[in-house]
Amino acid sequence: MSEVKEKIVSTVDAGTTREVVVRLRDLYKSFGDNKVLNGFNMVLHKGENLVVMGKSGSGKSVMIKCLVGLMSPDSGIVEVLGKNIVTMDQEDLDELRSDIGFLFQGSALYDSMTVRENLEFPMRRHKGRFKGVNDTLPLVREALENVGLAHTMDLMPEELSGGMKRRVALARAIILKPKLILYDEPTSGLDPITAKEIIGLMRSIQKKYGTSALIITHDVDCARVISERMVLLVDGINYAEGTYEELVAATDPKINAFFKK
Ligand SMILES: Nc1ncnc2c1ncn2[C@@H]1O[C@H](COP(=O)(O)OP(=O)(O)OP(=O)(O)O)[C@@H](O)[C@H]1O
Ligand SMILES: [Mg+2]
Repeated sequence: MSEVKEKIVSTVDAGTTREVVVRLRDLYKSFGDNKVLNGFNMVLHKGENLVVMGKSGSGKSVMIKCLVGLMSPDSGIVEVLGKNIVTMDQEDLDELRSDIGFLFQGSALYDSMTVRENLEFPMRRHKGRFKGVNDTLPLVREALENVGLAHTMDLMPEELSGGMKRRVALARAIILKPKLILYDEPTSGLDPITAKEIIGLMRSIQKKYGTSALIITHDVDCARVISERMVLLVDGINYAEGTYEELVAATDPKINAFFKK
């Protein structure tokens, strides 16, 4: 076990005064002989930007699917916004998901819908939250203004560049003013300048709404700029945790491998 891990785990344990938004404890998930999660632990605090890094196939998406209840772990505890996901029925799960914004890898806009319709989609899914809201336009406009794209409201996704699509997807992820945002590879496939813009928007959203964020990324620059804390997923466990600076300075070769250019 690395020095970094021991040190930071003790900080987390001591930091019980901070409200916990997500707690994954002793998570196990296998597919046949493929042991993907092997006792994974993670805590996300309120208002925190937590980055999870792990190589391709290490189980990041499996972890995030367990977190939103799209997949059941074989064993372990999944607590999100104070609720136990594993034992929840579908109705409660839907309700909880209205507090979670999800930026999917590669944007995942609906091609046959305008930008406005794409943003209205989560509002229709979670109607309960919008009882009494007859006019969705102000909410759509506010979300788009946050990403600097109010003028694209009536455009189709095919009329947007890749970076604009990502920003629209970000607007869609925040339109319900979620307490928690999950970002799956928010900067992948973007040029460095556009990636920087997206990171800037993620930070301004956190500042404006105090949202807690879980960010899955391969992008070391993104991790450096945005993370307050990082968790490295290696061999199915939270192999190391710490700030970017702490992890970069670690001597463990498995940790080093993440930061070699
Ligand atoms: N539904 C499934 N059935 C069987 N195996 C699965 C399933 N979902 C994921 N896996 C396996 O679990 C492992 C982890 O997959 P996962 O998608 O979580 O990786 P990842 O860390 O997100 O990788 P990437 O960075 O490429 O997105 C892989 O070996 C994958 O084949
Ligand atoms: Mg993945």
